[in-house]
Amino acid sequence: MNFSDSEIVASVMTSQGFDVTDKPEEADWIFINTCSIREHAENRVINRLRELQHLRKKKRGLRLGVLGCMAERMKASLLEDDKLGMRIDMVAGPDAYRQLPALMTDVESGQQAINVMLSADETYADISPVRYAAGGVSAFVSIMRGCENFCAYCVVPFTRGKERSRDPVSVAGEIRQLAEAGYREITLLGQNVNSYRWKDNVSGKLTGFSDLISIAAGTDPRVRVRFATSHPKDISEELLQRMAEHPNICRAIHLPVQSGSTSILKKMNRKYTRKTYLEKIGAIKRILPECAVSTDIIAGFCGETQKDHEQTLSLMEEVGFDFAYMFKYSERPGTLAAKKFRDDLPEQVKTERLNEIISKQQQISMESNRRDVGKTFEVLVEGLSKRSSSNAMGRTSQNKVVVFPAGTHKAGEYVRVRIDSCTSATLKGKVV
Ligand code: 5AD
Ligand code: SF4
Repeated sequence: MNFSDSEIVASVMTSQGFDVTDKPEEADWIFINTCSIREHAENRVINRLRELQHLRKKKRGLRLGVLGCMAERMKASLLEDDKLGMRIDMVAGPDAYRQLPALMTDVESGQQAINVMLSADETYADISPVRYAAGGVSAFVSIMRGCENFCAYCVVPFTRGKERSRDPVSVAGEIRQLAEAGYREITLLGQNVNSYRWKDNVSGKLTGFSDLISIAAGTDPRVRVRFATSHPKDISEELLQRMAEHPNICRAIHLPVQSGSTSILKKMNRKYTRKTYLEKIGAIKRILPECAVSTDIIAGFCGETQKDHEQTLSLMEEVGFDFAYMFKYSERPGTLAAKKFRDDLPEQVKTERLNEIISKQQQISMESNRRDVGKTFEVLVEGLSKRSSSNAMGRTSQNKVVVFPAGTHKAGEYVRVRIDSCTSATLKGKVV
């Protein structure tokens, strides 16, 4: 989401006559687009800002702006020199990017500038993002913003505000432009894509996420469509049926489970149980047998017992996730969990549990990849492999990375690759 937002920021800036540089020493302004999801993410931002202070000593007049979730969460306190031990010129929250030029003018007239107003309707629908993804093959298309689920651990509803959806006509227009520019994969993005809901003012017609994904898939058959992220409570059979109808909707669903224990899920305010989550997985496997499922898991949430942790490990095995992002619980100020529960697990226990979860996932990913050896997949070529320029890399519909001898194949082409070996992270094969 931040990557996509930075493309919007770049578009706002270039429309004002600014150029973008990837060399910090050339810049007059540096914006850091920040994440607040875990303390670790915020610490990395603070370290990056510290590094940039050295550059500022060398280059007088260099200005620093903090954008995104940390700007929204910490607001004016970021402008106090003694808070971070450094000077920040501008603070702009995720809904304030249209105001960047005005904020810059304020700074250039000698003030510090801030806008952290959240909006009920900003979707940046009319702004064509400047694309930064490498390769020109795969792009993000933002379809909704905000989240009102209020999972107990999560800061997003506070930093990103209310849910709002983007006009489907502008979504389809953006996909068409991307297809014409040679892009072959788009990822529909939102904090909670299943909450997508657009009501046309004139006709009164409602467009839900299942409708939108059909529109996206129908735009150009050469473009594959992905989406992220879905909340398990909202994955409907209707959506799965729609996916089944369109071969260019990728067979991959990211469905964050967070925990395998029903009592922890209840404390997390996730609004599903272990049983209902497993029922959703059952529906995916029934309707889309080829579909990969990936997930997010949090280790060591408040009050998590050894038994709760074991339930997470057993759920991982039962589902057989193809891939997972795994985290230690990090208390975020202002969240429901910070107010209601004690962050009571010792760091060492959190680390041990996380490590067990990671090694379990590695084993499950390896098994999943081994089952693919001998099979042939359609792969969208993204470019050369980072490790060897005689190899190309691409992804299957299931979002698995495949490495194969490049030959004359180019980014943006679809090739059929027969898999002959694997690691837990990569499939290897040859074009057939
Ligand atoms: N601590 C640890 N992980 C978190 N996530 C969200 N909030 C926290 C937190 N406070 C994880 C969840 C979510 C992913 C984007 O980040 O797993 O799905
Ligand atoms: Fe955070 Fe839950 Fe919203 Fe995801 S659904 S952004 S975890 S509050």
